Amino acid sequence: MSGTPPRVITVDLGDRSYEIYVGFGLIEEIGTLISDLLQLPRVFVVTDTNVGKTHLEPVRENLESSRIEVISYSVPAGEKSKSFESLQGLLNHLLEHQAERSDLVIALGGGMVGDLTGLAASLLKRGMNLLQIPTTLLAQVDSSVGGKTAINTDHGKNLIGTFYQPQRVLIDTNFLTTLPRREILAGYAEIVKYGLIRDHTFFSWLDSHASRIISLGDHAILVEAITKSCEYKARIVQSDEREGNVRQILNFGHTFGHALEAENQYSDSLLHGEAVGCGMGLATKYSQRLGMINEETVSVVINSLNSAGLTTNINNLCGGPYVADRLVRAMGQDKKSKGGKTPLILLNSIGTACIRSDIDMSDVQSFMVDEVKN
Ligand code: GLY
Repeated sequence: MSGTPPRVITVDLGDRSYEIYVGFGLIEEIGTLISDLLQLPRVFVVTDTNVGKTHLEPVRENLESSRIEVISYSVPAGEKSKSFESLQGLLNHLLEHQAERSDLVIALGGGMVGDLTGLAASLLKRGMNLLQIPTTLLAQVDSSVGGKTAINTDHGKNLIGTFYQPQRVLIDTNFLTTLPRREILAGYAEIVKYGLIRDHTFFSWLDSHASRIISLGDHAILVEAITKSCEYKARIVQSDEREGNVRQILNFGHTFGHALEAENQYSDSLLHGEAVGCGMGLATKYSQRLGMINEETVSVVINSLNSAGLTTNINNLCGGPYVADRLVRAMGQDKKSKGGKTPLILLNSIGTACIRSDIDMSDVQSFMVDEVKN
């Protein structure tokens, strides 16, 4: 390890509380860091074909050197693996190896691996122990924390899933050194989100440290950005684990973003974080349209996102060209929609988000027509 002790964040959920460890080289100590979670000296590691190529063997070696047996399973890389077929394959693998409730299943990968493995862990024998080891920045600051699990169906993304908290999350920043810059930037979008919805000071701090975070040039600053993000997420999940109300603010930029992703069939031609980055820009501009913030605040947000390298002009966003009507229709399919109404998460100021359920979609339509032309 780097010599610096890991930062520790507690997600306080009563008897389902758990800790998130953040540090460089945590995998080298994995045997020690998880020993209290094991009843038998074995673990089930689930990964994908990309992550597995680089990261499975070091994880296996470190576990085996602590005399922990590793039973590994790999799914094809890509969103297509969030399917009923992959879920069935993984559950069969666990059953074939007589996995027990008290066994630990480890999700080693990005959001896809975390969501699929989390769902399998929640279902097998009505729930086995789960450790998240997120390997992308986006998974480290968002999807590995908070217990959402899911697969996709032909009817839409993440429509089949459970809330199922892990026993621990190990965030090893060493994984980020092999991640393409595009993926780092996509993860950074979710980090900025916490500043925008929760803390103006954090937003301003990110604004002045963005290039050092994205270049991974300053480890202390990177760890601070990840730790703070996990703290904000932990506090929100603690107050509303099952997304009855306040957890919805974590979807800031996501209703616009999911529509952009849907137009790309959720493929890698537009990454989730890229869609969220543009979606946050759109949600910020729409907040001004409703008179919630002024033009100067919009400029501060847009300039900050753009200078970090995120695209907020829909016409320059990869995966296009986009059509306003189609995007607005896709926004109507949002999981938060109720009785034909789609709520939007908007800004009252930088650092304060709110849920607006009184949205007139015909006005959103006019807004999007202007944006797609601009
Ligand atoms: N990614 C949003 C949430 O976990 O609620």
